[in-house]
Amino acid sequence: MAAKWLKNAVFYEIYPQSFKDSNGDGIGDINGIIQKLDYIKSLGCNALWINPCYDSPFKDAGYDVRDYKKVAPRYGTNEDLYRLFDEAHKKGIRVLLDLVPGHTSEEHPWFLESQKAEKNEYTDRFIWTEFCFQGTDGLPYIGGESERSACYILNFFKCQPALNYGFYRITEPWQKSFRDASALTTREAIKDVMRFWLSHGCDGFRVDMASSLVKNDDEKKSGTSEIWHDIRRMLDLEFPEAAMVSEWNDPSLALRAGFDMDFYLNEPGGGYSTLLRDYYNNGGSIHGDRNSEDHSYFKKDAGGNINRFLGQYLERYEDTKGLGYISLLTCNHDTIRPSYSLDSTELKLAYAFLFTMPGVPFLYYGDEIGMKYLEVPTKEGGYFRTGSRTPMQWDGSANLGFSTSDGSELYLPVDDSADAPTVASQENDPNSLLNTVRSIIALRHREEDLQADASLRFICSETDRPLIYCRGSLVCSVNTGSNELKTALPHDVSGRIHGEILFKIGDVSVKDGMISAGPQSFAVIR
Ligand code: NOJ
Repeated sequence: MAAKWLKNAVFYEIYPQSFKDSNGDGIGDINGIIQKLDYIKSLGCNALWINPCYDSPFKDAGYDVRDYKKVAPRYGTNEDLYRLFDEAHKKGIRVLLDLVPGHTSEEHPWFLESQKAEKNEYTDRFIWTEFCFQGTDGLPYIGGESERSACYILNFFKCQPALNYGFYRITEPWQKSFRDASALTTREAIKDVMRFWLSHGCDGFRVDMASSLVKNDDEKKSGTSEIWHDIRRMLDLEFPEAAMVSEWNDPSLALRAGFDMDFYLNEPGGGYSTLLRDYYNNGGSIHGDRNSEDHSYFKKDAGGNINRFLGQYLERYEDTKGLGYISLLTCNHDTIRPSYSLDSTELKLAYAFLFTMPGVPFLYYGDEIGMKYLEVPTKEGGYFRTGSRTPMQWDGSANLGFSTSDGSELYLPVDDSADAPTVASQENDPNSLLNTVRSIIALRHREEDLQADASLRFICSETDRPLIYCRGSLVCSVNTGSNELKTALPHDVSGRIHGEILFKIGDVSVKDGMISAGPQSFAVIR
């Protein structure tokens, strides 16, 4: 059972480096986030996910944690973060931090101790093979960098040694069971980190690589799930309101393991190719075919088909009903911004769809104004992802209002194009992307039928245009093409709708059980 407050939650993801610099040093900070809470509230977002803001050498943008309990000095102090929790709560906004349980930085004191030749308390905190020349099959490892005559297993980049949660299937004598005392100690250490932030006012966690904990796990991730069940029990007892969203990419397993939400990121069995991007840009992988032909469903007349997305989504949705939520996202710090393929009208249609779907939606900072993906050199292990991590564009002042720095020290360059979108330039235009996002989220807050739990039913036509779906007693219609389309609603639906249009983009009318969906239109009908 997911935390109750999620029923009407809309999340805003903040990459802290790039959101708002309050002290002019060229990098975003916690006080900058506090300054912008009213803006976040004005969007209708009532929850935040902040990417890792802990002390780190920043070889992977902070996903290489050096101290789990300390805010990175470049973002401020722990007191600043506690104040952010408080100020956010006063405005009805919850705050999730990013928990990175699978690995630390190679500079974490636990690892510095663990790599020592002499046995100590942290010897088994990470996964080590038996000998400096001996690696292991199927898992990445590093040898030759430690005092200890052994190789250590990595979880992601070279700078991120895997914490030891044990093995499910043991194939080598040095591998320890996931129920071994050493693995249980790691589990307790992560619980301790969670308790630390929750007791200071944080509302839960986005969990990085949540399925990666136990090595050689079975297909159902039984070992890893056992750990999350245990952590869930701890939360239920001590912090019953706390919520967790997993980067697992398999809601059927993640929600059964005790997560409240799981991100919808890839196709079952596929790589990390966001499904949202798949339907924004049919088949486009996050790094590969940025320049391939664009068949996005929301792109006018590009011939994209949403049925592939729907087939996969509905299967997962049906399988997880009542267990927790699937989280659709506009994009995240690892993916290419949707504006890469879609223009402002197309984005409005895509977002209107996203914010009228069940589950708990996530908006990535800047997507609400259509910030662009910029071709910039890699920063902090971002590689192609860096282009989606550039500074938030607030207004027409220096550095687009992100920072008062003279520009020479900016974390990343701001969009210097003449048509760079900003909050200020869209604020007063009722039809701007920004205000369209606000209106559809506001409608979601007003209508329980558009929120996380209300039922979903697609009314299938032979083609997928227009796409018509019922949320509770409401009907939504999307036409992404350039022709007007007429569809007769099934009797059981037409019989119970009045035809009142609660929200629309473009022209939509309803008469005698028939929806006329104008070119590039969207409507929510009562
Ligand atoms: C997923 C995070 O979203 C990504 O940014 C990071 O590089 C990896 N996990 C490793 O922690």
